[in-house]
Amino acid sequence: MNIYTIGFEEQLKILREKSTPVENIDDQMIALTLKMIETLDGIGIGLAAPQIGINQRFFVCALDDEAPMVFINPELIETSEELSKYEEGCLSIPDNYGNILRPAHIKVQAWNTRGRPFTLEAGGLMATCIQHEMDHLNGILFIDHMPGKKRDKILKKFQ
Ligand code: NI
Repeated sequence: MNIYTIGFEEQLKILREKSTPVENIDDQMIALTLKMIETLDGIGIGLAAPQIGINQRFFVCALDDEAPMVFINPELIETSEELSKYEEGCLSIPDNYGNILRPAHIKVQAWNTRGRPFTLEAGGLMATCIQHEMDHLNGILFIDHMPGKKRDKILKKFQ
């Protein structure tokens, strides 16, 4: 669970992989999602499985004042043409932030921890959180949405 005991290079290898679909929503996996939500408390709003060393397609979003949500095998089914900009950060790339432009509204389909499919329409910070975490499942980091020079500068700091 503690990814901070491995080096950044090693973490980056896991973070750059495309994650595979979850096949069984079992107790162990559900326990992990609860731990992930606990981990976020006060330090962030989203965490994806690759960030804790697991290359499987699930993540949690826990916005202030909203019930935490678990997304398993999520698919973006709609994205708006309208874009919005948020200052993003990532627990895997601590202390670095940047304004990232993404679709302002999205529709996502996923499974919950009871194994039920659901569809969610989201805007604002929730839309950003979902897209940031979905990126993690595809090996993409928020810094990849920055100009190359800025991204490389951030990566260099960790290497
Ligand atoms: Ni992140």
